[in-house]
Amino acid sequence: MDRVKAIALVLLAVCLCPPSALFPAEEAQVRTLPDPRWDGGRTLMQALKDRRSTREFAPQSLPDQVLSELLWAAYGVNRSDTGDRTAPSAHNRQEIDVYVTLRSGLYRYETATHSLRLVKAEDLPGLTGRQKFPATAPMNLVYVADFSRTLGVPPEAAIQAASVSAGAIVQNVYLYCASEGLGAVVRGWIDRPVLAKAMGLREDQYIVIAQTVGYPAGQ
Ligand SMILES: Cc1cc2nc3c(=O)[nH]c(=O)nc-3n(C[C@H](O)[C@H](O)[C@H](O)COP(=O)(O)O)c2cc1C
Repeated sequence: MDRVKAIALVLLAVCLCPPSALFPAEEAQVRTLPDPRWDGGRTLMQALKDRRSTREFAPQSLPDQVLSELLWAAYGVNRSDTGDRTAPSAHNRQEIDVYVTLRSGLYRYETATHSLRLVKAEDLPGLTGRQKFPATAPMNLVYVADFSRTLGVPPEAAIQAASVSAGAIVQNVYLYCASEGLGAVVRGWIDRPVLAKAMGLREDQYIVIAQTVGYPAGQ
């Protein structure tokens, strides 16, 4: 086959391909989550009674329903008219982004659409902490402050506010986990420069803390 024929064949193949085969579909980048159930779980008092840190996890993944409710509880929109959230933030700057490592990749929780946007189709859990269990747990949350939303705030105050906001999100996750029989542990022991590089973060994004979630081992 001469070159002209080969090029013509390639062009024909390209023309016949559906666009989704040529360009990654938007849907492939966005994982929609089911609506949370509002009547599930144990009472707040029971969840507070059971809240604790767990460091041994079963390998099983979290169902989408659980993922949805956990992320909504963490930092979802609970007032749709204003976009306000389940956790507070100083001056309502909402500077924390919740990143999620699943076995299928790294995602960012998009609060407005209650969905997960694929950031990297890579398995990063092993990088999210210096301990061994994050590598094998089904899910790690990484709380990242975006300081482009706190411009004009002195750095120390911005870090302090972001830490408090992330702490409130951490506790929301702990309580949801206690309410649903999941295990969780918040983790500050992270190699931040290595993880930030692997996640492709900008200079003005800062990893505040991480949290591992999964079903407790041996149940
Ligand atoms: C800011 C902060 C950082 C933490 N970092 C880690 C960590 O890197 N690894 C870990 O296994 N636990 C970590 N923890 C969890 C604590 O060890 C745990 O909360 C404490 O031992 C009390 O146990 P409890 O959560 O079961 O009440 C951290 C807790 C906080 C508040």
